[in-house]
Amino acid sequence: MQTASSVQPSASPYSREDWQRGYRSLKDEYSYWIDDVEGEIPPNLSGTLFRNGPAMLDVHGQRIHHPFDGDGMISAIAIRDGRAHYHNRYVRTEGFVAEQEAQKILYRGVFGTQKPGGWLANAFDFQFKNIANTNVVYWGDKLLALWEAAEPHRLDPHTLETLGLDDVGGVVPEGKSYSAHPWIDPACEWNEGKPHLVNFSISPGLSTTITIFEHDADGNPVRTHAHSVPGFAFIHDFAITPNYCIFFQAPLSFNPIPVALGMRGPGQCISFQAKEPTQIIVIPRNGKDPVKRIPADVGFVFHHGNAWETDAGELEVYSICYEEFPNVEPDADFLEVDFDAYPPGQLWHFRVNLETEIVEGQRVDGRSCEFPQVHPDWVGRRSRFFYLGAAHEPTGNAPLQGVWKVDLETGDRQLWSAAPRGFISEPIFVPFPESTAEDQGWLLVMVFNAESDCSELVILDARDLEQGAIARLKLKHHVPYGLHGFFESKHFLPPAAQVS
Ligand SMILES: [Fe+2]
Repeated sequence: MQTASSVQPSASPYSREDWQRGYRSLKDEYSYWIDDVEGEIPPNLSGTLFRNGPAMLDVHGQRIHHPFDGDGMISAIAIRDGRAHYHNRYVRTEGFVAEQEAQKILYRGVFGTQKPGGWLANAFDFQFKNIANTNVVYWGDKLLALWEAAEPHRLDPHTLETLGLDDVGGVVPEGKSYSAHPWIDPACEWNEGKPHLVNFSISPGLSTTITIFEHDADGNPVRTHAHSVPGFAFIHDFAITPNYCIFFQAPLSFNPIPVALGMRGPGQCISFQAKEPTQIIVIPRNGKDPVKRIPADVGFVFHHGNAWETDAGELEVYSICYEEFPNVEPDADFLEVDFDAYPPGQLWHFRVNLETEIVEGQRVDGRSCEFPQVHPDWVGRRSRFFYLGAAHEPTGNAPLQGVWKVDLETGDRQLWSAAPRGFISEPIFVPFPESTAEDQGWLLVMVFNAESDCSELVILDARDLEQGAIARLKLKHHVPYGLHGFFESKHFLPPAAQVS
């Protein structure tokens, strides 16, 4: 591992073969103390890092079509007193259990995985597996594995045992969904400055229903309101401010016929309508004031970084934008993806004037990036720093190999890079215990190191990424590239580890 400045220039900062190795299934479940540590785990770093991601990339040798169809596996790294414990366990969804018993694929996947037997075996089967693979959040004393198209699964935070589907206080009944991208408002203005978890669900169709959920610190639902907007919507993430929820409804159309005929998954039947604008949907969190729908030239967004309100009646939103929706080709092998053929995700800044309904957008930087993070106390507030996963090179599209810090005030950039043989997952910002400034914290990032063929948790000081890793916690195996995670200040260990 090295800082960007110490990497020798080469034609490519990575090899495809190295990158591909991070996409092997991890079939074993482990529980062990991490003894191989380079550097020092900060003694005042205490809590549990939970991470989720698709980790079963095949079912007894039958490959799934796209990683987004893979079964969710939780990694838990409990850290305290300079020691760390690793534990992983698959979410025992109904589909996971059935497929492992049958030793074959039994379900179609949203992103193109098909049951064996060709289109005839898949036609008119609309039963998609709840794969619980996208995010994990601890809120109101509940650990929940999230997948945006269905109900959450509740897990035991100590053992990672799957306890069953959870209705999140009664607001997500059976058959309904709960997004995988909740935000935590650190100080809800209408609830005595207490933290709130804010989430949503999407029910798409010819018109789309967006439902907003707010939960207090005990997990109790305190506000739920639904809104219908015109047109089809595929919305993965949103942004919040103290008074608004903000959604980007990209110009997408959906053709259900290939899904019905068993030829494609729904995610492969979405088309980007480049001549149409994105609609920025602004829903007041009070659930009473009118919803606004404002056209803008955006492209496609999976993730938003942050948003806030200004005294001038504007919303400012930072998002990772793609020129268009990156289609999942039905016959393509994701391991052979041509990165150069796809537009990169880039950090953009939007000003949304709620009075004039005029939107101004500007690209912040050309570097390919994803998974934006801010200090949790600055969510929904004007923030100065973004932390992101990024490509090693400043231009072009490539796998994420670096952790990137963007200073909006000075324009400075910092990159810690795991190139040429390291590939990163989403960095998680963890504030110092007495953090008062926006970059006083650590970044915890899981890195697949192709040289050792194992993964490691790298701890960086968010104030200065280029000083290099504070600590590298080397695991005994690889962890397939994950999606999202959550740091909880409580320290959760499985029972067997508590006595060792
Ligand atoms: Fe996401």
